Amino acid sequence: MKTIVVSNRKGGSAKTTTAVNIASGLAKHGSVLLLDFDTQGHASIGVGCDLNESLGVHSIFEGKTLSESFMPTVHENLTLAPALSFFDVYEYANLSGVLKQRLQDENIADFFDYCVIDTPPTFDALLKNSLEVADVVLIPFVPHHLGVIAVGQMMRALYKSAIDFHRELADVYILPVMYNPHVNEHKESVKKVKISFGESKLLSPIGIDIKLAQQFASGSPIILDEKRSKGMKDYNKCIQELLVKI
Ligand SMILES: Nc1ncnc2c1ncn2[C@@H]1O[C@H](COP(=O)(O)OP(=O)(O)OP(=O)(O)O)[C@@H](O)[C@H]1O
Ligand SMILES: [Mg+2]
Repeated sequence: MKTIVVSNRKGGSAKTTTAVNIASGLAKHGSVLLLDFDTQGHASIGVGCDLNESLGVHSIFEGKTLSESFMPTVHENLTLAPALSFFDVYEYANLSGVLKQRLQDENIADFFDYCVIDTPPTFDALLKNSLEVADVVLIPFVPHHLGVIAVGQMMRALYKSAIDFHRELADVYILPVMYNPHVNEHKESVKKVKISFGESKLLSPIGIDIKLAQQFASGSPIILDEKRSKGMKDYNKCIQELLVKI
């Protein structure tokens, strides 16, 4: 099982949009588990499910198993562990290593080809649990000055977590989102990321497509949409690139 963590500490950088489309797209290639680790629960909504108030992925921190929160989604090959709304990460003194332990104890890797984790925009215990189990970290970023800074901050967070967890650095890929090739700031920002982190880490950009915002109302990721929308094509290309790299 390859575990892909979609992460950026900067809010509103299309983490959830990317996680639900990548997870749904990969479900055409194998069995996928989507963990909605952000208590906002937007990834759950994105795959046609409700947030849960009594059982969800965060219940693992309250002594429950991971698999008892699993539920079916819009795609037969895609299983969701939904967010547990109102889970307060700051109520707990030590949450370290819990996700890693659950994945091991429940042999989750025997049941899924891919695990995609949507993470919150904070450097908290939820993000740290996710980074601990990441094979791949996918960083979507809006190509603005602060977006570039956020990628650098995220890279430093990855190095720190690799040291803290005594593990190798996960493979990192950087995905420009809401990209407009006619906007100079966008082109310059992508160039800066390419120079700083290397061309091999950069994936082809996702353009602006309002359907990517509208998909959350229908609960069906655009990548499962039969119409050939721009957002669908862009995320399909992203998945093809990822499949070659991971
Ligand atoms: N390529 C795109 N084109 C148009 N709208 C987009 C695109 N990508 C994301 N959006 C919209 O931008 C907003 C932010 O996206 P999203 O919720 O995925 O970001 P996020 O990083 O998960 O946010 P948060 O930090 O709150 O978790 C959403 O309203 C989403 O529908
Ligand atoms: Mg989100």
